[in-house]
Amino acid sequence: MEHTLKTYEEYFSQSAEVRMCHYEKAGRLQHVMLSHQFSISLMEELFDIADHVKEMTRKPNGIEFLKSLLSHKKAMLYFTQPSTRTFLSFLTACQMVGMDTGEVRDPSLSSEYKGESQEDGVRVFSSYFDLIIMRDPKPGFCEYMAYLLDNTGRSVPIMNGGSGKDQHPTQALLDLYTMHRSFQENGGIRNKKYAFVGDLLRGRAVRSSVMLLSQYKDVEMYFVAPPSFQIAEDLEKHLISQGVKITKTDDFNSVLSAMDCVYMTRLQDEYDLSGESNSIDYSQYNLTPDNVASMKSTAIILHPLPRRHEISPEVDADPRAMYWRQLRNGVYIRAALLLYVFNVADRLHEY
Ligand code: NCD
Repeated sequence: MEHTLKTYEEYFSQSAEVRMCHYEKAGRLQHVMLSHQFSISLMEELFDIADHVKEMTRKPNGIEFLKSLLSHKKAMLYFTQPSTRTFLSFLTACQMVGMDTGEVRDPSLSSEYKGESQEDGVRVFSSYFDLIIMRDPKPGFCEYMAYLLDNTGRSVPIMNGGSGKDQHPTQALLDLYTMHRSFQENGGIRNKKYAFVGDLLRGRAVRSSVMLLSQYKDVEMYFVAPPSFQIAEDLEKHLISQGVKITKTDDFNSVLSAMDCVYMTRLQDEYDLSGESNSIDYSQYNLTPDNVASMKSTAIILHPLPRRHEISPEVDADPRAMYWRQLRNGVYIRAALLLYVFNVADRLHEY
């Protein structure tokens, strides 16, 4: 039978459950594409590895040992959509475990300028590197690249550093890792109230984190947004099918005092088609010292960053503000993921 490759549109029209079957090899994650791929037990394994890595970076010989673990591997960072944290966090994580790196951030400086397709570009990277980490504005595009590479016999792992409005699985992992660490002495992630605030329709960070969080028992989720930026229908259906108790509201201050975690986000106006964001009054979706005062003393405040006005800088000194710690956790969990994907995490015990 003739074997024809699917187009990007055909490939991405399949359900996430079908697509994710392609991202494993011999029972382990090969490509990191969707937050759907992380079960609680896999997350916990990664949290332990990240704790271990974090501990080791405190001592010079620990740092040296970590660098020896993947010094035989090279990673390519292909980021065609703007990024500061995710790019640098992956870069730092690669350096932490000894990987050499290459990068393309501006396609106008690569052969794409000469008319080369992104598909051919990624194929080039797969010839030089052992891992491709990519961010692209098109949802599902890095998944499609993984599918193409798998079908060319030059399969190297690909990690999704953000794909359009759809997925940001490593942001979700670092968010859950931060929740895990913050609630360690307070009963863990389960059985808590979480508010997600802002542009929930177009924010891939919330979308991905909520998928992971929905696996934990007895979590209640509050989605706080202007009605036209509420969570997408498919996500809402998924949460209902998982039995998650959800509340949708546009009244931020009415829910704040009951929350254990408040996850703030910015307006994603880069996705506006015709200035939709301009007509929205976003001013109530802010944290200031005044309304933070009404929050529980044990609550935490998260933000994937970058922020605009959603959290006033005066809140940064509040012990509940975890967003700077959250971005530092990103490096440890990404380093953990690299060790896991290349199957060398067990070697940490040699140290
Ligand atoms: C997020 C993203 O790119 O989706 N940023 C990040 O990766 N830390 C959130 C955002 O840009 O608002």
